Amino acid sequence: MNGKKMPTHIVLIGFMGTGKSTVGQLLAQRLGYAVVDMDAEIERREGRLIRDIFAEEGEGAFRKAESDTLSEILSRSEVQIIATGGGAVLAEQNREAMLSNGFVIALTADTADIIQRVGNDPARPLLQGNAADRVHKLLLERKHAYDFAHLTLNTTGLTAQQVADKIWDSWR
Ligand code: S3P
Repeated sequence: MNGKKMPTHIVLIGFMGTGKSTVGQLLAQRLGYAVVDMDAEIERREGRLIRDIFAEEGEGAFRKAESDTLSEILSRSEVQIIATGGGAVLAEQNREAMLSNGFVIALTADTADIIQRVGNDPARPLLQGNAADRVHKLLLERKHAYDFAHLTLNTTGLTAQQVADKIWDSWR
């Protein structure tokens, strides 16, 4: 280390469909920071769509690309708002990296909302087939996966703007 303090990024975590990307953009506009969408960054680095990474090499390869991308993003010296993918919290090393380099905000939503928001999205490989069943199963598996956040907000019944406002208010 050269004694320079690393920046504290703002890291949004949460299950698919909880609004991380949209809220991230709104927070970035308000705070004047750059926003980074991890899924888009993975696709850019890999030169292919997330669904193609899953189809061609499986979830393990995607998780590796996800962890590598996260660690590169967190090491940047400008402060960023980072919208993570819903499974980025699964690896302990990722959780530790988020906590040591950022203020971590978890977005949650009621199950029905999640199904309605992402149920039919072909871009989400983990939800193909019976999306409602897949969401229920994954939510159960990830029941406590997002509990490590510094701040948790339920987004059900709120617009993305209202969620961003609540986060903003919690800092004032
Ligand atoms: C995933 C969530 C997705 C994407 C990938 C896997 C997950 O991101 O990273 O399809 O495991 O929950 P979003 O949370 O932005 O949909």
